[in-house]
Amino acid sequence: MIDTAADPVIDPRGVNSGVAPVTYGHGERPPRGDYEQARADYTCEQDWGAYSAADHELYRRLYERQAAQLSGLACEEFIDAVGQLGSPAQIPRFDALSEKLQRATRWEVVAVPGLIPEEAFFSLLSQRRFPVTGWIRKPEEFDYVVEPDVFHDLFGHVPLLFNPMFADYMQAYGAGGLKASRLESCEYLARLYWYTVEFGLIDTPAGLRAYGAGILSSAGELRHSVTSREPQRLGFDLERIMRTRYKIDSYQSTYFVIDSFKQLFDATAPDFEPIYEDVAGRPELTTEVRLPSDRVF
Ligand SMILES: [Fe+2]
Repeated sequence: MIDTAADPVIDPRGVNSGVAPVTYGHGERPPRGDYEQARADYTCEQDWGAYSAADHELYRRLYERQAAQLSGLACEEFIDAVGQLGSPAQIPRFDALSEKLQRATRWEVVAVPGLIPEEAFFSLLSQRRFPVTGWIRKPEEFDYVVEPDVFHDLFGHVPLLFNPMFADYMQAYGAGGLKASRLESCEYLARLYWYTVEFGLIDTPAGLRAYGAGILSSAGELRHSVTSREPQRLGFDLERIMRTRYKIDSYQSTYFVIDSFKQLFDATAPDFEPIYEDVAGRPELTTEVRLPSDRVF
């Protein structure tokens, strides 16, 4: 997930001078993570030795709970690749994981202290570097954590980076984000990220399946998103998504369904500038609304 509220200044002096912390939403929560150790691009070292036995144990419990419910709910590409994370018994070492990713799709994972500003986030993605939060949630946050932690970032996001088409989409998204920053259209791209990378569903011959990291790393929303009668599931429509607000504090009311990862990648091919102009001229949509033009699943 990316932050859309803060606008920290990146210190031009560079390495290890510390960068401004980023918080989730609009300000009241104290930042989590040590931003003092971050470089100017917000990356830092993964201090693997600092994880306690209790941290590894918490990761194992989170992993096993999610792995047990993937079958029939997660897309095959995710299920095929999740084993690449290595043993569930301990938090993976990012450098070992990066070696595998490099060989598969030329991506790597890099440690960050926590949430980072949009522009830093887009820049890393455009370089095929996926930022992963170093810290793990507290035991009392086992069922729900507001900010993305190492479990969400690794378990939710990294398996699909082994898929070539999805990996290319993520890079194209980052490159598009850098351009959107200049056009001040980041909110539209944040919505695209939200409804695809975080909460996307995919239509498969076996039925709807989840590919979004926010769903795949959630204890309850995985089943809810695929099987509940409550939310609406609509066909992927780029402009529709860019107009649609989203919820950060409850299950989604609307999920968007892609036909394939190629459809997702192809959607990022056109120049977004005229699309932003078009979207800006039309009303925003609430998360619950349904339009006559929606393709309903
Ligand atoms: Fe995420």
